[in-house]
Amino acid sequence: MAHPDLATASAQADALEEKMTRELDEMVVKSVLYQSGDIDPAAPRGRPTEAERKGRYFLMREDPRLQKMPEKPTLIDFFRYRFGPSAHLLQSARLAVRDGLPEKTVLACLLHDIAVFGLIRSDHGYWGAQLIEPYVDEEVSWAVRAHQALRFYPDEEVGYEYPEAYIRMFGPDYRPDPYVDRDYQEARQHRWYMTARNVTMYDFYAFDPDTTVDIEEFTDIIGRNFRQPEEGLGYDSSPSSHMWRTIIAPTRFL
Ligand SMILES: [Fe+2]
Ligand SMILES: [Fe+2]
Repeated sequence: MAHPDLATASAQADALEEKMTRELDEMVVKSVLYQSGDIDPAAPRGRPTEAERKGRYFLMREDPRLQKMPEKPTLIDFFRYRFGPSAHLLQSARLAVRDGLPEKTVLACLLHDIAVFGLIRSDHGYWGAQLIEPYVDEEVSWAVRAHQALRFYPDEEVGYEYPEAYIRMFGPDYRPDPYVDRDYQEARQHRWYMTARNVTMYDFYAFDPDTTVDIEEFTDIIGRNFRQPEEGLGYDSSPSSHMWRTIIAPTRFL
C-alpha cells in the first residue's frame, strides 16, 4: 500500500494526465522518468481504453503544448523555448564576464545547471557535461561536471565556504555520497580545478531576483566557444544528440 500522500499525488497526476491527453488529438503517455517520484513505476498503470484510443494515435512528434522549436535549433533557442527560467545561469555568467574571467569559464558558468533547467535535476553536473561535451572545449564540460561535487566542499584559500543554503536545504548532518567525495578528491588534483572552482564561486552569488539578463548578451561568447551543429542541436549525429531531441520532444511515445 502506497503512502497516503503518494497515493493522492498519484491520483492527481493520473487525473491531470488524463485531462491533458483528452485535450490533444493524440495520446500522451509519459515515460517512467517523467512520473517517477509521483507514482510508483512498479504499480500497475491504467491504459487508455479501446474507446479512448479509437481513431487516435500516440504522440510521435513535438508536444503541441510546448513552444515550437525552430527547424535547426541553436543553444540559444533551447534557452528561449525549452529551459525553465534560467536567470541563475545568466547572472552567474554575467558576473564572470564582469570579473574578466576567461571565456571558457564564462561558458561553463552559463551552462553549469542546464540539466536542472532542461533535463534532469538528479546528478545534474554529470548530465549537463554529457549534453555539451561534443560541442565545447573539454575544459568547459569538465568544469560543468566537477562543479556538482565541488559545491559541497569549501576552499578557504579562494574564499569558498560550504553554502549556508545547503544547510537549510539538506540539513546540518547531510554528507555527500561516496562517489561525490571521490570525484571531489580527483577534481582537487586536476589541472582545471580552478575553472570548476570558479563556476562554484559564481554559482554562489547568482541568485538575485531583481537582476534580468538576456541570453543575447552571450551571443558572441557562445558563437566563439560552442560548436553549433549545422543540422541543429538534436539533429546532428553527436553522442549527445538524442538528449537534445528528448528536450525538444519530451512526451514523444518512442
Ligand atoms: Fe549546480
Ligand atoms: Fe548553479
